[in-house]
Amino acid sequence: MGLLDGKSGIVTGAAQGFGLATARRLAEEGAAVALVDIKADEVNAAAASLVSEGLHVIAITADVSDEDATIRMLDEAEKAFGSLNFIHQNAAIQVEKLLHETTLDEWDRLMAVNLRSMFLGAKHILPRMMRSGGGSIVNSASVLSMSADEVLPLYSVSKHGVLGLTRGIAVTEAYAQAGIRCNCICPGDIRTSMVEQYWAAQPDPASAEAETTAHYPMKRIGEPREMADTVLYLVSDLSSFVNGTSIVVDGGVMAKVY
Ligand SMILES: NC(=O)c1ccc[n+]([C@@H]2O[C@H](COP(=O)([O-])OP(=O)(O)OC[C@H]3O[C@@H](n4cnc5c(N)ncnc54)[C@H](O)[C@@H]3O)[C@@H](O)[C@H]2O)c1
Repeated sequence: MGLLDGKSGIVTGAAQGFGLATARRLAEEGAAVALVDIKADEVNAAAASLVSEGLHVIAITADVSDEDATIRMLDEAEKAFGSLNFIHQNAAIQVEKLLHETTLDEWDRLMAVNLRSMFLGAKHILPRMMRSGGGSIVNSASVLSMSADEVLPLYSVSKHGVLGLTRGIAVTEAYAQAGIRCNCICPGDIRTSMVEQYWAAQPDPASAEAETTAHYPMKRIGEPREMADTVLYLVSDLSSFVNGTSIVVDGGVMAKVY
């Protein structure tokens, strides 16, 4: 018996990193999962690898910042699985620059991928979930939904927006009474290519990595599977009265000032 037997849904940004770990974890608990990513070859390979392990997954290539692609993604997953009980909205990008060095195009693209995508995904899955008896929406936010980093100002703005969107959905009585819950996860640093890219953008990448790790009480950053376990909780019925919350999974770093 798995925690998610009989459930089906979508994980975006699932070709690698946190999204791939979530897709695997949810499928291990019995869910049918559509892995969605803009990178076609990578998401196909990721899904094929999970299928070879006996997990029930499919791959869908889509740019989640695009409305037509989002609707197609939902149609394809719904057609494959019959209904959609969950979505982990996880795809995101970052731009590592001081604010005054950032271009308008970079702002527009980042907001489209990190925030518009979550609006579009929610907008188009909510009516489906209301028709099918409810569901769980989990958004990837960040500790930067509640704080900032001098070379990630746009990213931080977008993740503050994810927190607001999550709360906006959660407090809507029509959704809550239809059995829909919406929450977000706020990870600290996770060992994925996003963090490696951040370190690489610093003047001295090796000391940037050491500095990041040293800041954590556990003297390490998080692993993708540790985040995936939290998404599993939020998707499953174990969290049936958890709605509108932001779960910080950061090894204690946000509790620290100095
Ligand atoms: N890595 C961290 O330290 C960290 C910390 C806090 C929050 N997060 C959040 O966790 C989530 C996953 O991060 P990650 O570290 O796994 O990142 P990652 O860069 O390793 O993976 C992101 C995935 O999203 C996909 N993607 C990008 N744009 C897309 C688009 N327009 N449409 C569809 N797919 C798209 C990428 O191809 C990639 O596979 C993100 O929301 C990120 O902001 C990450």
